[in-house]
Amino acid sequence: MTNNMDFTTLIQNRYSCRAFDPKPVEQEIIDRILEAGRIAPTAVNKQPVHVWAVTDAATLAAIQDVTRSNYGAPVLLVVGCRPADAWVRRYDGKNGAEVDASIVATYLMLAAENEGLATLWVGSFDPAGLAALLPGTDGYDLVAMINVGYPAPTSAPSPQHTRRVPMEEFVTYKK
Ligand SMILES: Cc1cc2nc3c(=O)[nH]c(=O)nc-3n(C[C@H](O)[C@H](O)[C@H](O)COP(=O)(O)O)c2cc1C
Repeated sequence: MTNNMDFTTLIQNRYSCRAFDPKPVEQEIIDRILEAGRIAPTAVNKQPVHVWAVTDAATLAAIQDVTRSNYGAPVLLVVGCRPADAWVRRYDGKNGAEVDASIVATYLMLAAENEGLATLWVGSFDPAGLAALLPGTDGYDLVAMINVGYPAPTSAPSPQHTRRVPMEEFVTYKK
């Protein structure tokens, strides 16, 4: 099923889900979510980003030991970047890998929402412990673990969801 949800509705509806239904997510839906990440833009199109799509029960269980943000999502999309492959800004030497990974992770998160799924971006994990559970992580910085799944019936936004700085604090116009 593709929702093609109106974008404004999608970004307003999205919230951090901390109660997932264990029901597996259909492979064709996972494929569409990953395709969104694959086509995300990266600096100078260097594409220094890789995704580990974890659905096997043993790894999902082991990951519980490397993060306290564990809410039973049946799909974890671990987003990593390879600084050695990324664009570097000439003016100050800043490496663009993490920005690229964040864009990919955001695309994955919003694509999952567009499929009617719930998501949680998890950044609080032990990166070395997580890397040890995944193949081919040498040279990668693991940036985000996007939890994806159907929301449990009890799932609801936390109070943080509506706590945002007011627009006048958020933006500075210089017209
Ligand atoms: C970079 C990043 C890292 C995050 N890491 C975690 C995390 O480790 N655990 C968690 O429960 N939520 C995590 N979150 C979710 C935020 O707490 C949440 O987005 C914020 O409180 C706003 O709530 P909302 O997403 O429901 O609007 C993270 C979000 C971002 C963007």
